Amino acid sequence: MTKLTASNLSLAYGRQLIIDNLDFAVPEGRITVLIGANGSGKSTLLRALARLMKPEAGAVLLDGKDIAHTSTKEVARKLAMLPQGPVAPEGITVLQLVKQGRYPYQSWLQQWSEADERAVRAALEATGMTPLAERPVDALSGGQRQRAWIAMTLAQGTATVLLDEPTTYLDLTHQIEILDLLYTLNEREGRTVVMVLHDMNLACRYAHHLVAVKDRGIYAQGAPGDIVNAELIRNVFELDAHIIPDPLYGTPLCIPASQARRAQERQAAVPVHA
Ligand SMILES: Nc1ncnc2c1ncn2[C@@H]1O[C@H](COP(=O)(O)OP(=O)(O)O)[C@@H](O)[C@H]1O
Ligand SMILES: [Mg+2]
Repeated sequence: MTKLTASNLSLAYGRQLIIDNLDFAVPEGRITVLIGANGSGKSTLLRALARLMKPEAGAVLLDGKDIAHTSTKEVARKLAMLPQGPVAPEGITVLQLVKQGRYPYQSWLQQWSEADERAVRAALEATGMTPLAERPVDALSGGQRQRAWIAMTLAQGTATVLLDEPTTYLDLTHQIEILDLLYTLNEREGRTVVMVLHDMNLACRYAHHLVAVKDRGIYAQGAPGDIVNAELIRNVFELDAHIIPDPLYGTPLCIPASQARRAQERQAAVPVHA
């Protein structure tokens, strides 16, 4: 298990403060989903948790140690990060990409091992990418490419996996497939998953712990059933919505209201005087 926490964390681009003095502990062995409006700082926060961004103040602690003072390889053995819209080197094949996931275990002393081979094979299998292993990544569809990146992330074999919108570019079938895959990894292997999802309903279905990001911090966090209501949707997304129980799983299902249709309905309701 890996302990990942943010302590008094502030994140900024130049003078623009994105996250202000945040305290947060990633629940171990659970699936955490970050939600929030575009530009609210979800990716920024995830990047900082993965040590891809240096804090303005405060720290990210990995097993109690400041991640900024932890070696790249040590971090990479404990957590894997799939960023938003990753770009593969030109001409690289799926297999080569997935093998990159094993770099934290390689050194001039430690050559490619049977364990590396097994991890790569398992990751290709889990993501359904085995038949496409020899294909160049840039010759894949958006959905296949995303699955290749997820395979690389899984091959890294870390207890914690961070993913920024892993279902982008995927059709509904593949969205569910990827989320089911992460769900299964969590169930079977107890891997900690932290991801950003933009689909509120899928977020509610798959998250044990939901974190709503707003105003440079956490607006609310908890089990979806405990925190998601019309008020949260209004405040976090500036959207009027009805919340009903998901007919399959009972998790909150968000039905957004349409301003345009509402205006039309109001107009239609106006009595016409001849
Ligand atoms: N590399 C960057 N340089 C400057 N500003 C950035 C950079 N990346 C993101 N931002 C800004 O930081 C804010 C938060 O962005 P981001 O974390 O990507 O939000 P989200 O993932 O929630 O959509 C936005 O206002 C965005 O424009
Ligand atoms: Mg983002």
